[in-house]
Amino acid sequence: MKFLIILVQLLLVYATVAKPTGPVLKLFRQDALPAGKNQKLQREETISHLTPNRNNPPVFLAEVAIGEPPIPQLLYVDSGSSFTWIKCQSQVQGYDPKASSTYKSVGCGNSSLASSPALYPVVRTGECHYRQMYFDGSESRGTLGRETMRFETEDDGVNSLQDVDFGCAQDIINGFSVGDGLLGLAYGKFSILKRFDNKFSICFETLSSEPNSGHSFLAFGDAARTTGKSTALFMRYDHYHVELETISIDGRDIPNFLAPIRGNTIMDTGTSLLNLAGESYFELKSHIDGKIGGSLNSFSDGGLVCYNGTIQRQLSLLPTVALTFYKGASLVLDPTSLFHQSGDEYFCLAVVVSPDDIDLNIIGTTALQNYNIGFDLEDENIYFDKISCDYLN
Ligand SMILES: *[C@@H]1O[C@H](CO)[C@@H](O)[C@H](O)[C@H]1NC(C)=O
Ligand SMILES: *[C@@H]1O[C@H](CO)[C@@H](O)[C@H](O)[C@H]1NC(C)=O
Repeated sequence: MKFLIILVQLLLVYATVAKPTGPVLKLFRQDALPAGKNQKLQREETISHLTPNRNNPPVFLAEVAIGEPPIPQLLYVDSGSSFTWIKCQSQVQGYDPKASSTYKSVGCGNSSLASSPALYPVVRTGECHYRQMYFDGSESRGTLGRETMRFETEDDGVNSLQDVDFGCAQDIINGFSVGDGLLGLAYGKFSILKRFDNKFSICFETLSSEPNSGHSFLAFGDAARTTGKSTALFMRYDHYHVELETISIDGRDIPNFLAPIRGNTIMDTGTSLLNLAGESYFELKSHIDGKIGGSLNSFSDGGLVCYNGTIQRQLSLLPTVALTFYKGASLVLDPTSLFHQSGDEYFCLAVVVSPDDIDLNIIGTTALQNYNIGFDLEDENIYFDKISCDYLN
């Protein structure tokens, strides 16, 4: 599942980055990032517990309460889009804007249809309808609103954010079967990050840990962890890009087919699997096949390469893949991050080829297990630290 957003400007991005030379125009300059003005929080230690969804798709959800009285919601944590939306329903459970004293409807302002999400003013009511599309064909549609959102803090307190712009979703198409909505962590017009000093971190525990062990966390502002080695973060439209330099298997580099462009890789927690562009994928796949194909029966399952057996039993046979980025920061994918136990007696490579002719790689949730990822939009760095996620203990 991919919750990377579709942008109208996407083709433009790829057309621009495909040129191998020259400086890259950063669309979000540091001086253009809004300072966390009057809405700035008193206490910055805002954290959300993350609940791993172990089955397909492997994604993480964060609990955020919305409205007055506050209704807890489980939201997909998506660094591949910036617009937060919540399923609005007037059922017994769930969030109903009519039952909340803090809900406000907002107009479209001067945003255009070409924005992301696309906005459509409703002249008769003064409301603003939105439509947010995602790469995997899923879609959320509804009305633009403003609400109070509550985040847990480190010490079991609550941090209230007032007047957060969000989408009150009435129609959800092709996806989002689990959870109550989406928490957009990319940088964009509607991003909540400006309320948090443009800084956050996510620590993903292994997806195979106990569902409620509660160690994975998302932290904002001062609570964000920016430890470990860093690499440059390039912000383009609603996406976080980094520059992948080498891919190695068991310590040996594979031939390099990576696009020689700045920011050839997108960091997207809303995508489940690691996506490698064209040749890089086939190169990695053939190396892995060469290593284990002789010992394990392989077959194809819905576009994935799968092997009979279990990851735990075959552990000593399975390779480790390292992704090394500009300035030396790396992500080391142990067999449990590289493969996904898809059935009792078979597991699949948690790597797929990037969509169509996109010459970019996308790093999704499975590849980020056991890592703390710190995003600092002000100093434009991203930090990778292989640690156990025990902030909350
Ligand atoms: C409208 O657009 C201008 C610049 O294009 C911007 O400065 C202004 O803040 C926008 N107004 C609203 C309400 O979004
Ligand atoms: C491998 O696993 C698949 C899926 O469970 C199964 O259909 C197939 O028979 C297995 N093949 C072998 C050789 O065990």
